[in-house]
Amino acid sequence: MPVDWQVHLTEEHVGTHTYRLWSLASFEAASADLYGQLRGRGSPALRDDLSPMFGVMWGAARVLAEWVDRVGPRLQGARVLELGCGLALPSLVAARHGADVVATDQHPDTGALLARNAALNGVQLRYETLDWRRPRDLGRFDWVLASDVLFARELPALVVQTMAGAMAPDGVGWLADPGRTWASEAEQAADALGLPWRLEVDAAGGEEAFVWCFGQRAVAAPVSSASPPGQS
Ligand SMILES: C[S@@+](CC[C@H](N)C(=O)[O-])C[C@H]1O[C@@H](n2cnc3c(N)ncnc32)[C@H](O)[C@@H]1O
Repeated sequence: MPVDWQVHLTEEHVGTHTYRLWSLASFEAASADLYGQLRGRGSPALRDDLSPMFGVMWGAARVLAEWVDRVGPRLQGARVLELGCGLALPSLVAARHGADVVATDQHPDTGALLARNAALNGVQLRYETLDWRRPRDLGRFDWVLASDVLFARELPALVVQTMAGAMAPDGVGWLADPGRTWASEAEQAADALGLPWRLEVDAAGGEEAFVWCFGQRAVAAPVSSASPPGQS
């Protein structure tokens, strides 16, 4: 990577537990560093791909992490996939509850920071590079999670297709979003795939988010009673 990211230690409170996380000290300073390093080199698309947004906590992740914590005990042994994980707070919460977690992102520096944060919090999970523009099969999962990944026009369809492809037949998809311009296009994408969905609005840690729930099981059951396949 062209940038030596400056990090600092932060705390996130989810349910009754506190997670300690190394995150970028300043998104603005990190962006300025990156753009300075890339000046005159690379395309706008490359700059977007290397954006430091992977290294800061976005509000929708806090809401999604609370949802995961709410079903926590029932995640024991469940297969969980997170898309565009960034700091991957929902994945860390799922792993702490005993889920078999695969966290994914396209940014080349996500895995190293996540490994550091998983060790800091005493949890085990796996990291894989996954870019929704170049789909690859990582298997089928009981829960597929994503937060704040609908920030560009083409993303709702890509993310929902990736999510649908990774969900087990009775799997649950949760997609949290702070209200980005194109987010509601996730609904048309799900309809086009015949994937049932339901929308909730929730808040946590002072952050509000829309949460789309995908899959028959997610549509049938409110979050408080959602459970992984075979444990209803
Ligand atoms: C706004 S950040 C959200 C990070 C994290 N989910 C959160 O809510 O804190 C968007 C994330 O999506 C990732 N991302 C962007 N485009 C992607 C793509 N085409 N495939 C996979 N991940 C992507 C970025 O690297 C970044 O980590």
